[in-house]
Parts: sequence; structure tokens; C-alpha cells
Amino acid sequence: MPYFLSFFLLCLLSSVLSQWIDYPNDGLATMTHYTLPSGYIAACGCTSASTDYPTVALSQMAYGSSTSYGPACGRCFNLTLLNPVIATPPFFPSVVKSIVVKVTDLCPLSQTGWCSGTTSKPNSAGAYLNFDLAYPSKGVPDDFFPSDEVVYGYTDFGVWNVTYQSVPCLDSWTGSNSLAALGSVKNLGSGACCPADPMPGNASTTCPSFSEQNGIPPDTTTSSATAVFMLPQNIFVVILLSVILI
Ligand SMILES: *[C@@H]1O[C@H](CO)[C@@H](O)[C@H](O)[C@H]1NC(C)=O
Ligand SMILES: *[C@@H]1O[C@H](CO)[C@@H](O)[C@H](O)[C@H]1NC(C)=O
Ligand SMILES: *[C@@H]1O[C@H](CO)[C@@H](O)[C@H](O)[C@H]1NC(C)=O
Repeated sequence: MPYFLSFFLLCLLSSVLSQWIDYPNDGLATMTHYTLPSGYIAACGCTSASTDYPTVALSQMAYGSSTSYGPACGRCFNLTLLNPVIATPPFFPSVVKSIVVKVTDLCPLSQTGWCSGTTSKPNSAGAYLNFDLAYPSKGVPDDFFPSDEVVYGYTDFGVWNVTYQSVPCLDSWTGSNSLAALGSVKNLGSGACCPADPMPGNASTTCPSFSEQNGIPPDTTTSSATAVFMLPQNIFVVILLSVILI
């Protein structure tokens, strides 16, 4: 009986672990930046020309899939810089900087780090969402992130608190007038999904969750406590059966 119970609990826990974040259209988040080579086809499978414009990877539990595409693919957000998360003394920019980005990539879930937000635990800056900007990029001004090298001795604060606002891509995203920057690549077939202008909540214009459709659980490999759930469930059945047979 305890075995049945623990098997049941394991199933229950693993389903809890796969809950995606149902975030509001506006809110607070963090923003980091990462290197995305120009022309690179990222997780959603958006065209290579999308990298000529501002793009981001969104943290996994908000992205909505642990691999390939998710419901966030193609969505556009207006991100406004507030202040760097790590700066001594605290830094508040004298100019308000905003940028409209399109989600083209997945920032994998990790135990710690900026993309670690889940429904139950924010990242260490208190944010559930992290937008990882492809930067430097043709589509983002090189001086986008404010800095004060005289005071801090460096120019890159790395992580920023931001506000985000879901916006329609058409007209707002600088790539929306370039046909080549829109849509997904052909050679990935059904392995790509990148709507030009997804309407959140309208299933016929947004991508499904690839990993949910294909039964791939979210990547929880960095946690020793949850690593157990990465085992195929039939292993538990085998254990269960052998316990019953003994
Ligand atoms: C921003 O980051 C700081 C850490 O430096 C954190 O304490 C704060 O709550 C964050 N949020 C806002 C809105 O400043
Ligand atoms: C983005 O947000 C900033 C700050 O709130 C605002 O000034 C700007 O008009 C917004 N841009 C778009 C395209 O919504
Ligand atoms: C969802 O999108 C489709 C295609 O653009 C549109 O025909 C339909 O009216 C939309 N539904 C809602 C509820 O907005």
C-alpha cells in the first residue's frame, strides 16, 4: 500500500512540477542578455532574419514548453528598464529605456539563476519571468543598457528589473514590416511555430506547448530532489510490480 501511495504522490508531484506560469499581460520581470549569433534559428523556429530585430528567450515556465516551441513563441512585449538588480551603490538610470521584443527562444529552467521562476518560486530578484535579450544584436542599439563606468568601473550590470507589457507585434515590433523576419522556417516542418502576430488566449493564433503535446516533462535535472521524476514512469510500474510479486 505505501508503494501505491508513493507512486500516486510521485505522479501528483510531477504533474504539479509541469505547471506553466499563467502570467498577466503586464507586470514586473527581470531582464538579462545572451549571445545569439546573427541568423541563428532558435527554439521557436522563427526565421533567421528575425535576429536582425530585437528578440528574447523567455524563461521556461512562462514560455510553456521544455523544448522546441511553446505558447509564448512569437509574442511581443514592451520591456522598460527600471534598475539593475546588482549594483552597489544602487543605480537608477536618468533616462527611461524601452524596447519591443519578440519571443523566439526558450531560456531553460534551472534550479537557480534568472530563468528559475516557477509558479511557486520566483528567481532571486523576486521575478517569475525573465526576458533574456539577444544582445549585442543588429536590432538593438549598442548603448541600450544605461551605465556609469566612472562610478562602477564597468558598463554591464547584467540583470535588470523591468516592467513588461504584452503588445501586438504588428506596428510595435520593428521587424513586423519585414516579411523575411516573420513566421517560421520551412525545413523544421511541424517542429517550428512562430506566429507573426499571436493573440494571447486565442488558440488558433498561438502555438501549443511542444513538450506537453509530446509528453516531455519540464527539465528538472538540476534538482536532486526532483531528478527522480525524470525517470520514465514505467520504471515505477516495474518497481511496483516486482514489489507485489515478491
Ligand atoms: C529590483 O531589484 C532589487 C534588488 O536589487 C529588489 O530588491 C527589488 O525588489 C526589485 N524590484 C523593483 C521593482 O525594484
Ligand atoms: C513601452 O513602454 C514605455 C514606457 O511605459 C512607453 O513610453 C512606450 O510608449 C511603450 N511602447 C509601446 C510600443 O507600447
Ligand atoms: C481568433 O483568431 C482567429 C484568426 O485570426 C479569428 O478568426 C477569431 O475571430 C479569433 N477569436 C477570438 C475569440 O478572438
